[in-house]
Amino acid sequence: MRVLGIETSCDETSAAVLSGAGDVVTLESLVILSQDVHRVFGGVVPEIASRAHLTAIVPVVERALADAGAAPVDAVAVTNAPGLVGALLVGVSYAKAFAFARGVPVLGVHHMEGHLFATALDHPDAVPPFTGLLVSGGHTMLLDVEAWGRYRLLGRTRDDAAGEAFDKVAKLLGLPYPGGPHLERLAKTSDGGRYRFARPMLRRDQTPADADYYDVSFSGLKTAVLNAVKGRDAGAGREAEAAAIAHAFQDSLIETLVEKTARAARAFGRDRVVLGGGVACNRSLVAAMRARFEDRGVRVFAPAPRFATDNAAMIARAGLFHLERGERSSLDLNAFASQPLPGLVAA
Ligand code: KG4
Ligand code: ZN
Repeated sequence: MRVLGIETSCDETSAAVLSGAGDVVTLESLVILSQDVHRVFGGVVPEIASRAHLTAIVPVVERALADAGAAPVDAVAVTNAPGLVGALLVGVSYAKAFAFARGVPVLGVHHMEGHLFATALDHPDAVPPFTGLLVSGGHTMLLDVEAWGRYRLLGRTRDDAAGEAFDKVAKLLGLPYPGGPHLERLAKTSDGGRYRFARPMLRRDQTPADADYYDVSFSGLKTAVLNAVKGRDAGAGREAEAAAIAHAFQDSLIETLVEKTARAARAFGRDRVVLGGGVACNRSLVAAMRARFEDRGVRVFAPAPRFATDNAAMIARAGLFHLERGERSSLDLNAFASQPLPGLVAA
């Protein structure tokens, strides 16, 4: 089966063509157009995002089809939730029109399920069963993935998503948007100095019966950073202090995520950990995961950067799985700002 994937949930207009069956797939093309305009505003402006998708969608899809040799596709998979509704609608409307015109089926895909499939695009072993950690700008989810389409949601964030915490703290430190990569770079130049922030929702006495055993929370950490930023030395030491704060913030967030992931892998006896979402670009996070798991015979898989952040290849990949099971959407497919992950089984 050859699938055209389309992704417009936030500030990337992306299209991809993927072919194959089961877990054996070939990515024939991938085009990702990032909307730079939001940098000026220090965050994504939904109305501007929708308009930019409108301008870009036709050339982006045409480029992806041409790069894949212009052979016909058998189906279209499109992100229809969660995300910015106006942005999603551009992809959904285009996908439905494309499907109708070509007489092929269309299927709506959950954006976070796409992130879960992304690592398998270039790591054939990043397939179930595994412990999954999705860390993006809008979501943080810890999952036990018994099989594709069967997800046990163990934990999530109580407030800010991991990427959101990176972006907000980066803003406090005066770094450009999106802040994650800038903060990671700054953090590398320091060892944290005199700063050490508490590990949110991480206590030794927690047991699996506790509601916060797997959950995370980053808003308190953000406040601690704000106080540190206000109280830091003025003058010559200012830059060094910013780097130290960035390092200490990243350490706290990473240790929390690593520990919660370790709990999940241990509880379900998994020997694979799969990371996904934009924050999985963070080399310190991936290194800390590997350091934590390497002695235990657990392999840690992280997506290549172009598959970690928003892209249509992961949507085509997740779509292929559902299409092969005979699933189809109708032409009244709609876009939704939020929607539970499909395939959830009781935790
Ligand atoms: O998955 P994604 O592209 O979009 C959403 O679905 O939200 O994730 C974007 C998020 C942003 O918050 C961005 O700052 C973060 O991923 N990010 C990083 C890094 N690269 C991207 N965070 C930390 N370190 C990075 N190297
Ligand atoms: Zn995403």
